[in-house]
Amino acid sequence: MLAIASKILNNIKKNFSYTHYFSTVIVLSLTSILIFFIVIASPSFSNVIIFSLILVFNSLTVLLLLGSKRRKDINVLIRTITALRSNSYTSDNEIKLDKDLNELEAEIKQMFNNNRSVITNMKKLEQIRTEFLGNVSHELRTPIFAIQGFIETLLDGALNDEKVNRTFLNKANQHTLNLNNLLNDLIDISMIESGQMKMSFRYFNIIELLESILNEMRAHADKKELELRFESAKEKVLAYGDKDKIRQVLVNLILNAIKYTENGFVEVMIIIENELIIISVKDSGIGISEEDQKRIFERFYRVDKDRSREIGGTGLGLAIVKHIIEAHNSKIQIQSKLGMGSEFSFYLKKG
Ligand SMILES: Nc1ncnc2c1ncn2[C@@H]1O[C@H](COP(=O)(O)OP(=O)(O)O)[C@@H](O)[C@H]1O
Ligand SMILES: [Mg+2]
Repeated sequence: MLAIASKILNNIKKNFSYTHYFSTVIVLSLTSILIFFIVIASPSFSNVIIFSLILVFNSLTVLLLLGSKRRKDINVLIRTITALRSNSYTSDNEIKLDKDLNELEAEIKQMFNNNRSVITNMKKLEQIRTEFLGNVSHELRTPIFAIQGFIETLLDGALNDEKVNRTFLNKANQHTLNLNNLLNDLIDISMIESGQMKMSFRYFNIIELLESILNEMRAHADKKELELRFESAKEKVLAYGDKDKIRQVLVNLILNAIKYTENGFVEVMIIIENELIIISVKDSGIGISEEDQKRIFERFYRVDKDRSREIGGTGLGLAIVKHIIEAHNSKIQIQSKLGMGSEFSFYLKKG
């Protein structure tokens, strides 16, 4: 009962506070009551007329005051909405309504700020997209120009020159392989962006997977006379994840380790900690500075663009690796010092 009464009282107070003219309305009402009592005390025809006239006057004044207040508020609102629609506000401080409309003012400010952050995000995305397209065209142009160059030289007569024709063909072939790598990575990136990269999680033997990958990689390591190490105390350790995607991650990390190491070793390690399997790929290669460590997971970021391109890198590998690892609710971590080698590691759930 008390709650209802206080609610009604609150509402009345609120309604009154919306009219700027609270005191005026009170004064007018009090004069009406006073005159009403005077008329009752000495009821004569002229008093009744005077009372009626004053009553009409008071009512009209109240109506006029309320009407003008309403018109003023509506005008300010129309102006505010027009300014919002034409994006002419630069900050929410410019949005100002009458004091008693402060709740509405706060709502409009919030709407303005929400819209602004949506627009800023859209602009940022648009910029990223343009940059990405620029990078893609640049990356495509490099191998295509090279292939074109070799074919033209061959057609211009080098075809019959036994000393160079095979070299040129091999180089053109290498660039078509690079082009193929780039297209495959681009397909992966676009699948990731559009949310179409489907994961299929199950338990698989990580030791067996690593051994099969290392067998494939051995030829690359041998070519550079690098020692490729992997020792496991167990023959079977079950990990939970998407086996094919984890294969892609490991191939990328191990190939990077081989690519960016001139002498020494590449070592794959497995550590089991409670419910987790920590997998790391360590090398004795060129290492990565702290500044570059912050950026190597960005698409197309390469410490040495020319060198990476020369050895068939696309600059997309680690961006794909990071996405796959994060889709496994895990994190890819790096420990490296320039000139002192690098170590990339991540964890998977143990079966
Ligand atoms: N093991 C590593 N040692 C040194 N630098 C590395 C290593 N792995 C990656 N990087 C650096 O990170 C960059 C990005 O790697 P990635 O996305 O796989 O592209 P890339 O196609 O060039 O290999 C590489 O260009 C290289 O500069
Ligand atoms: Mg790579």
